[in-house]
Amino acid sequence: MRRKANEPFFLTGLDIGTKKISIVVMETDPVTSESHVISIGSVNSKGIKKGDIIEPDLCVESIVNAIDKVESSSMFVSDAILSVGPSQVDSIILHETIRLREEGDYERPVTSSDMIDVVGEAISSARARSDECLLHAVPLEFSVDQSDFMPDPRGYKGTELTVSLLAIFAPLKSIRDAVDCAEKAGLNVVGVIHKSISAGFGSLLPEEMDNGCVAVNIGAGTTSAAFFKDGKLQNLALFPIGGDQVTSDLASVLGVPSINAEYLKREVALSESGEDLYDELEFALDGKAFITSVEEVLSIISPRIEEILSRFLKPVIDSFGSEEAICSIVFSGGVAKTPGLLSYVEPFFGAPARIGTPVDPSSLPLENRGSEFTSAVGIVNYFMEKENNPDLYLEPSLTDLVKEAEGSNGPITQGGKFIKKWREFIQALKNAFSELF
Ligand SMILES: Nc1ncnc2c1ncn2[C@@H]1O[C@H](COP(=O)(O)OP(=O)(O)OP(=O)(O)O)[C@@H](O)[C@H]1O
Ligand SMILES: [Mg+2]
Repeated sequence: MRRKANEPFFLTGLDIGTKKISIVVMETDPVTSESHVISIGSVNSKGIKKGDIIEPDLCVESIVNAIDKVESSSMFVSDAILSVGPSQVDSIILHETIRLREEGDYERPVTSSDMIDVVGEAISSARARSDECLLHAVPLEFSVDQSDFMPDPRGYKGTELTVSLLAIFAPLKSIRDAVDCAEKAGLNVVGVIHKSISAGFGSLLPEEMDNGCVAVNIGAGTTSAAFFKDGKLQNLALFPIGGDQVTSDLASVLGVPSINAEYLKREVALSESGEDLYDELEFALDGKAFITSVEEVLSIISPRIEEILSRFLKPVIDSFGSEEAICSIVFSGGVAKTPGLLSYVEPFFGAPARIGTPVDPSSLPLENRGSEFTSAVGIVNYFMEKENNPDLYLEPSLTDLVKEAEGSNGPITQGGKFIKKWREFIQALKNAFSELF
C-alpha cells in the first residue's frame, strides 16, 4: 500500500466466518493515529463449514454481497486484510540461539541487527518443523547468555542471544482458498491473519492486553482463544465447534427445523431457575402449535455449552499460563450474546470474565456493536498495531506461500486470470517480507 506520510488512509478488513461475512472499512489519521469506521457490511455466509471454505463459489458470492453492501454506502473497497479461521491451527513456542562473538573476540552489546538475525533463524527453524503454512511469528522474549528472558536485549553484553518465538501454522490450502475467494470477489488481498488474533484486537482493552487476558471467541462453527500479556499475543488455539452445534442439537432432539431451534436457543437464559424453568415456549410448526419448556431447551443446550467450556476451553486456557498470569477472560462472538452466559462460565475458570464487544464502538452503527463483530473490527486494529510496532508481529508465512507457489508444477488454480493475480499477490507479500529481513 503506497501513500503519502501525512494523508489519512483507508483499510479494509474482511472477516470470513461460518455464519456471516463482514467487511469493515476504516479511515486512519496517521498523525494522531485516530481511526474510525466509515463503513461496515455483514451478510450471511454460504459455503463455509466450521471455519473451512467447502464450496468456494458460494463463498465468493457471499463476499461479493458483503462488498455490495459496503459499496452501497458509497465506499470503494479494494486492498483488504483477511481474517480466517480454518478448523486446524497449530502453535508452538520455540527457542533459537545465535553466537554474538567468535572465540577471542571482545564481548559487545546486542544490537537490533542481532535481534533480526536470531528471529530469522527461529523462523527458519519453525518452518523446518512443519509442512503447514507459517501464518504468524511473534518474537516473545530474548535472553543473553541464559539470563532471565527480557523484552528488549539491546545494550546487554554477552556471547549468545536466544529468542523465544511463537509460531502459528495453518493449512496452506485453507489460506490459499480464502485468498482465492477474496480475489475472485474483486478484492486485492494484502494480508491474512488468524481470526483469534483479530478477535483479541477487536475486544480487549490495552490494559487487559498488558495484564494478561484471554480473548475467547465463540462463533457459529469455531471457538478460538488467544492469550495476550505484556501488550502482545502469547499463544492461541482454535476448535471446530460453536453455536451451530447447539442449534443442531436442539433441532435433532426436538425434531424441529434449524430456524425454530435458533429461535428457542435465543429465548432462554443459561441462568434461568425456579418457576421460570416451567415457562412454555411455543411456535407454529406445520400448521400446529409446537410447545416445549425452558427446562427442556436448557437440558439440551447446556451440555453442549458445558462441553465447549470444560472439554475444549478450560485445558487450553490452563496451558496458556498460571492463574496469576491470566487476570481476566473476555468472551465474544455471537454465542457470547447467550443470555446468562457470564454467570454460567465463571465457575469454570479461575479468572474474572466479561462479555466483549468491539473496542471503541463510537464510529460503529448500532447494529454492528454486538459481540459478533469483534473479529471484523479487530482486523484493522491489528494492522495498526503492526504498523506502529513492526518488529512485534511478523508474517513469514508470506515467503512460505511464495515458495509453494514457485515450486508448484501446475497452475495454482484453474484460469489464467487468477494465476496472474496470485503472482501479483505473492510479489506484494514478498516485498512486505523483505522489508523485515
Ligand atoms: N442472542 C444469541 N443467543 C445465543 N446464540 C446466539 C445469539 N446470537 C447469535 N448467536 C449464535 O452465534 C453464532 C454466530 O456467531 P458469529 O457471528 O460470531 O459466527 P461466525 O463469525 O460467522 O462464525 P465462526 O467465527 O465460528 O466461523 C450462531 O451459532 C448463532 O446461533
Ligand atoms: Mg467469527
